[in-house]
Amino acid sequence: MRIIDKNAPYRQTQPTDSCNYVAFFCFHCIFIYHNYKYLCRKPKCDMRIDIITVLPEMLKSPFSHSILKRAQEKGLAEIHLHNLRDYSEDKHRRVDDYSFSKGAGMVMAIQPIEKALETLKSQRTYDQIIYTTPDGAVFNQQTANRISMMENIIILCGHYKGIDQRIRDQYITMEISIGDYVLTGGELAAAVISDSIVRLIPGVLSDETSALTDSFQDHLLSPPVYTRPAEYKGMKVPDVLLSGNDQLIDDWKHEQAVERTKMLRPDLYKKYLGE
Ligand code: 6GU
Repeated sequence: MRIIDKNAPYRQTQPTDSCNYVAFFCFHCIFIYHNYKYLCRKPKCDMRIDIITVLPEMLKSPFSHSILKRAQEKGLAEIHLHNLRDYSEDKHRRVDDYSFSKGAGMVMAIQPIEKALETLKSQRTYDQIIYTTPDGAVFNQQTANRISMMENIIILCGHYKGIDQRIRDQYITMEISIGDYVLTGGELAAAVISDSIVRLIPGVLSDETSALTDSFQDHLLSPPVYTRPAEYKGMKVPDVLLSGNDQLIDDWKHEQAVERTKMLRPDLYKKYLGE
């Protein structure tokens, strides 16, 4: 479970009678004195994501706009990009090497990854160390929900023909693919995963865009949406949406969601039916 530290000691309710008040005041002073560093520290964010990549520049943009940018500004999420080359002990900062299987292409070497992971792990405890790879488990909303409850995660972006298997055996706790097709590297997958989990952190989305009403949360696609005008060049908004009857509108939306799912995603529809 996510621990939201809203009840930090310095925000506790004040006692009402004066004796208690003095005692509380003294306690408070001692508390502040002993916890000066703690109190001055920026409040801990809800989720910290450390991304290890050979292409940090490629990942800057997705996290510098709109909702993900605001989530970081509000202190709800921290996203740290680490250049794998900074951890290479090779004089040319190399991070790859030849595969032992002939003609199999280049492999991400063990040394820089081990150093990057050990450095991060020495600084805090991680809930998961995720590796993005086309042969991982296919990512979906349920996995996003599960990861969004965590506090600290590492995402290691795969490249070339993959990482040395010993890293997978020793360090990786979750292997994720974002679909059955091959990308040039795991960076876009890391951006997709991060986006989908950060938007689930309470406070990141406003009430109107609440993640609870997302497609896939209940194995259903979203119903169609309309905005003003009610009629445009002869094309009309369905009458029910203009009825002002919330119950009717909710029923219609649900019906539409079920119909669309049945037609467009029979695989999802089976899950919705619990098959
Ligand atoms: Cl995570 N990486 C790469 N290279 N290709 C992918 C992928 C990941 N997920 C789907 N295709």
